[in-house]
Amino acid sequence: MLSLLKTSVLVFLLAAVANSTPIEKKHDKYIAYPIEHFEPSLIGKRYESESFDEGGARYITKLKIGSNKQEVLVMIDTGSWNLNFPSVDAKCQGRKCAAGTTFDPSESTTFKNLSIFSRSYYGGGGSVQVSGFKSTDDLYLDDGKKLPDFEFNLLNATFYPRGIFGIGYITNDNISYIEATKKAGYINKAGFSIYTGSDHKGTFLLGGVDKAKYEGELALYDTHLAIPGKSITTSNGTVLPFPSVLALDTGSAGLILDPPIVDQIFKEVRDEKGKISCDIALAGNKSFTFDLGQGVEIDVPYSDAFYWNADKTACNTRIEKTGHHGATQNVGIPLIKHIFLTNNYDTGKLGVAPVRYTDESDIVDFWF
Ligand SMILES: *[C@@H]1O[C@H](CO)[C@@H](O)[C@H](O)[C@H]1NC(C)=O
Ligand SMILES: *[C@@H]1O[C@H](CO)[C@@H](O)[C@H](O)[C@H]1NC(C)=O
Ligand SMILES: *[C@@H]1O[C@H](CO)[C@@H](O)[C@H](O)[C@H]1NC(C)=O
Ligand SMILES: *[C@@H]1O[C@H](CO)[C@@H](O)[C@H](O)[C@H]1NC(C)=O
Ligand SMILES: *[C@@H]1O[C@H](CO)[C@@H](O)[C@H](O)[C@H]1NC(C)=O
Repeated sequence: MLSLLKTSVLVFLLAAVANSTPIEKKHDKYIAYPIEHFEPSLIGKRYESESFDEGGARYITKLKIGSNKQEVLVMIDTGSWNLNFPSVDAKCQGRKCAAGTTFDPSESTTFKNLSIFSRSYYGGGGSVQVSGFKSTDDLYLDDGKKLPDFEFNLLNATFYPRGIFGIGYITNDNISYIEATKKAGYINKAGFSIYTGSDHKGTFLLGGVDKAKYEGELALYDTHLAIPGKSITTSNGTVLPFPSVLALDTGSAGLILDPPIVDQIFKEVRDEKGKISCDIALAGNKSFTFDLGQGVEIDVPYSDAFYWNADKTACNTRIEKTGHHGATQNVGIPLIKHIFLTNNYDTGKLGVAPVRYTDESDIVDFWF
């Protein structure tokens, strides 16, 4: 009896000590989606054509939609604002859509057709089209929680190989996944982070920042997904200042830069016949340096921007020109894969730092 009493007193004392020195509360109000950093050329011929929509890598994740939690693969796109994916009988690039990319509304008891036809245009010239009917259904998170009646476009036709999960800034919480997740109470702040590892896998995090996944301190900018970068330096040391902001676009496989910048970059990699040469571009482990201001410098290897075609007869590039001098530049995966990117939509603060490849994780809530 006595010994039990002693133990209780001891436990009480320990509890008192613990209470007087508060331990930082672990953040658990976040949602993590795995990202597959999908390189089209790795999975076969069909994707080797380097058109705007198919070229280069993509960030792909899986959503669970409808009462029977159908799994649908979608591309994460910071450059657009809503969710769309093909219906079972839709056409993707004129063909039947690939397995795992479509949704069958007849199998979900909670699906609602809003019967409003919608056509969206993607890409610089607005040349890439998707069309379908506005609809709603429940979206499920991995732990079984749901976002009720989330609005999306159920497509009958798309020029992309799969749906687009637009996570750009918009305040309408019917169609913004990030705002809807906050409204449902699953996260504290309407913000996200994107990390890609060296193994082409990564994490799309809602409501948190993984402090283990970047080097140094985050540089913070007052913006939703566009930053005033300073300059790009080519491998031979030419410093080319950016005349306009850089929109950070995970839906883009390329680097769409101001015309004089692109002219200079290409000039340095042309052969004597004036053609862009992979022999020149890929020799000697060249890299660009993006100076994003605030002391953040990101190296991007030329091999992320130039690559041989399938039979090694021509050198392709992921660098393009904007429509005119001074227009917003658009930087996609060749840059984004080398950074940790996070944006708090509530405060309009965006954070960037060089990525740190690690399995460690230290997820905290937004502090900025
Ligand atoms: C949604 O409604 C439109 C217009 O009424 C119709 O054409 C379309 O087939 C419907 N889609 C589904 C999946 O029910
Ligand atoms: C998609 O639906 C629209 C509107 O009903 C129609 O005009 C278009 O032809 C359809 N596309 C395909 C590929 O079925
Ligand atoms: C969101 O959806 C609800 C229910 O359909 C509707 O009443 C409301 O107007 C919508 N809000 C916006 C901003 O579209
Ligand atoms: C870089 O290359 C360009 C084009 O060939 C040339 O004009 C420029 O002088 C070079 N700069 C250096 C530092 O070598
Ligand atoms: C190429 O350059 C990068 C830094 O720009 C360096 O980390 C890497 O080790 C270099 N690789 C080779 C093969 O020299």
